[in-house]
Amino acid sequence: QKIYTKVTDEMNFYEGNDPTALAKEYGTPLYVYNERILRTRCRELKNLVTYPNFVADFSAKANSNLAFLQIVRSEGLEVDAMSPGEIYIEKAAGFKSDEIFYICNNVSEEEMQYAVSEGVLVSVDSISQLEQYGRLAPNTRVAVRFNPGVGAGHHDKVVTAGKKTKFGVDPSCIPLVKEILKKYNLTLAGINQHIGSLFMTGEAFLSSIHSLFDIARQFPDLEFIDLGGGFGIPYHKETDEARLDLKSLGTELDKELYAFAEEYGRQVKFRIEPGRYISAECCVLLGQVHSVKENSGITYAGCDVGFNVLARPVMYDSYHGIEIYRSNDAAAQNGADKTHSTGDGHDNNLQPVTVVGNICESGDILAKDRMLPPVMEKDILGILDAGAYGFTMSSNYNNRLRPAEVLIRESGEAVLIRERDTLEDLKRHMISI
Ligand code: LLP
Repeated sequence: QKIYTKVTDEMNFYEGNDPTALAKEYGTPLYVYNERILRTRCRELKNLVTYPNFVADFSAKANSNLAFLQIVRSEGLEVDAMSPGEIYIEKAAGFKSDEIFYICNNVSEEEMQYAVSEGVLVSVDSISQLEQYGRLAPNTRVAVRFNPGVGAGHHDKVVTAGKKTKFGVDPSCIPLVKEILKKYNLTLAGINQHIGSLFMTGEAFLSSIHSLFDIARQFPDLEFIDLGGGFGIPYHKETDEARLDLKSLGTELDKELYAFAEEYGRQVKFRIEPGRYISAECCVLLGQVHSVKENSGITYAGCDVGFNVLARPVMYDSYHGIEIYRSNDAAAQNGADKTHSTGDGHDNNLQPVTVVGNICESGDILAKDRMLPPVMEKDILGILDAGAYGFTMSSNYNNRLRPAEVLIRESGEAVLIRERDTLEDLKRHMISI
């Protein structure tokens, strides 16, 4: 039965699969990805501009599932990495050393050495880490992350440039950067920035580019200039929140890139590093309701999606749309009244429900006072836009098992791309005394 399914219907997200059947077959919580939508998003950003020497690096911190990365790679994107673990999994997915860009922050010599031995270009974001790099790998290529002085993001915790942030080298340190490059005979292959995560208009991004270009002018031999990520997606889909206008952003960006290349004297390579834009919308996280109760006038729907599974609502007060799917079994068990089932998302019987998880903390709230049709035990919840910073931020808190992941192929076939943790996994690295 369709209970509340407007967004996924419009996207034809399940490609003919029944989400309650997927939940039954693979269990919940379950991350479900749609390959067609993922490929569409990859193409949109890969073709953002007409400027010829342009590459989109997928930011794998948003999603580092192996099969997922294989699809991203087959679309011709490259990747950034934030840790040796990301480099490792990206190589396993088939990315070559020169298709991986390690943008590190406060890393040990061993971590830096790992990237160097893997032949991966390293970007450092402090003077001391540039010195560390020089000592480790003199006479090689390196990149430096600068702080362009402009930040943006959906929450203070994800603004990564501007005045109050640990990231990037201040442009006032350029003379020192040049000195260290010379001291270790390093070649500055590129400069990069990332202003923060989730902008819905291009203003801050376009203005940060000007600051980065000012920095680039002081280094005439760069191979590339990396403009960073942060491209936002509309999480409030039920209310038809506007999408980021990629077309006009692309047009504006194109003008900037051509103009700078002309001034620079050659078609220097430009990169971007989108994570969320590529991976968020191609995923719905399925959970199941196990209890519905009333406490002091508040209706709580208790489900199996705790903040160990999806951390974003608790960590950043983030909004994720929620749909409801009801299997016939569940409807029969609950004696469900079919008149609630409009299926079009415009149900006129909406009531505030606070959707909570199964973790032993009162902050374990997925959605507060969300207007939903009456939710029943055994209902399957579809938590929308869960593919970015969803599984990658999940944990085993409360010794819960991290979820399985399923991919709906373009053919419509659903395939498992990660097994759910097992109880054995929980004690795998522990040593009994
Ligand atoms: N490049 C760098 C250097 C980054 O640090 C990030 C994200 C990106 C690119 C990709 O940003 P995106 O295009 O995905 O916005 N966990 C938070 C987001 C943290 C973003 C961290 N850095 C969330 O769930 O909203």
